[in-house]
Amino acid sequence: MSNAADIIVHGGYPIAGTIRASGAKNSVLKLMAAAILAPGQTRITNVPLISDVTLMAEVLMSLGVKVEFEREQAAVVIDTFDITSLKAPADLVNQIRASIAVLGPLLGRFHEAQVAVPGGCQIGERKLDIHFAALEALGMQFYTDTEYIYASAPGGLVGAPVYLRFPSVGATENLMMAAVLARGTTIIDNAAREPEIADLANFLNAMGARISGAGSPRITVEGVTELTPTDHHTVGDRIESGTFLVAGALLGGPVTVEGISPDYLATALLKFEQMGVSVDKTPNSVTVWRDHTQTLKGTDIQTLPFPGFPTDLQAQFMVLASLSEGGSRIAENIFESRFQHVEDLVRMGADITTEGHFAYINGVSKLTGATVHSSDLRAGAALVLAGLAAEGETRVTNTEHIDRGYENFVSKMQSLGAHISR
Ligand code: UD1
Repeated sequence: MSNAADIIVHGGYPIAGTIRASGAKNSVLKLMAAAILAPGQTRITNVPLISDVTLMAEVLMSLGVKVEFEREQAAVVIDTFDITSLKAPADLVNQIRASIAVLGPLLGRFHEAQVAVPGGCQIGERKLDIHFAALEALGMQFYTDTEYIYASAPGGLVGAPVYLRFPSVGATENLMMAAVLARGTTIIDNAAREPEIADLANFLNAMGARISGAGSPRITVEGVTELTPTDHHTVGDRIESGTFLVAGALLGGPVTVEGISPDYLATALLKFEQMGVSVDKTPNSVTVWRDHTQTLKGTDIQTLPFPGFPTDLQAQFMVLASLSEGGSRIAENIFESRFQHVEDLVRMGADITTEGHFAYINGVSKLTGATVHSSDLRAGAALVLAGLAAEGETRVTNTEHIDRGYENFVSKMQSLGAHISR
């Protein structure tokens, strides 16, 4: 990890204005991997310039793929015509869990892959059994040692019905990418429904794949013999959007995020309204605001696969709950150790206790600035939000986690009036 500079926040200032959502981190990383499937030059636009995207580019380059960023256009051009290695090396993969997404495409196109066992945010065990069971159903054979997954499909993959024991986002994507070039039809049941899945399916279909049902629990993939490169515009980042909307809800707003469908944030928007935050929607934007007569009210949140409340907004909403009247309860159902921000929020004056996967929050009237530690990507963002609402100065350390997933986080916050710097 790099030694990114600390973020300093002076709290209590109004936050209002309009920002544009960046492209979704969780989509673009898989789109980049999927480019492997179509030999030639793919151009992806609305690409967030974040360190996870740079790392995914490095993973692809380690395979011999040519990757060029057009920074002014927020685009990346990926040429996968010549792939010279089928090994995604440990030193890179350890830095970005999403690099497991190259497994499906490499197997699909080359029937062989060696991928390091991934690292990423330390927010739970993050097993790969669903990925493996799904790919095995299509004929993958594999073994692992402490560092690598060695996978092959002698003779190629063959479509099959696959039921996922849990709607894993990564496993659904890996399976979809493997299945597009398999012989015959794959039916994925209990598929993840996240908007990023539909984005990936649209990209693959534009390359010539035949996928239907993406966004529903049943995805059907009819295998084709080849795919051709295409251009694609990445869907907006609903988690980045939700993070800025929480800032508006905390400090009054109005904050508008453009470039995002409110449908992607439906459950979170419902929670805002239950908590006493006003919400306005257009097909391509969301606005939140709260005047001094609207106090925040405690709520009950449980994280669930889409369309349920996203785990990636859990920490941010915990900040909102901390400053609400009355009690709140948050159940984290997706990752087993995703309350690492609690300790720091408590240090800032929040009243939170945890028991297993539940957090119980008693609202307090104020938070106080402190030096806090960004333990993972969304926890780091949540601590910045807490700092915006707190009295005095908050210093957030270990901000390389924030840089992994938020493009121009500090300058976007500044444009809304936040007193924040690095
Ligand atoms: C993706 C997102 C992440 C988000 C998560 C859930 C990316 C790069 N990351 O992560 O931001 O928080 O979806 O919305 O897109 N699991 C298994 N076995 C498996 C796979 C998953 O047990 O083979 C478990 C995980 O440990 C976790 C849960 O299933 O507890 C959800 O994981 P999954 O949906 O796969 O999340 P990711 O794709 O890793």
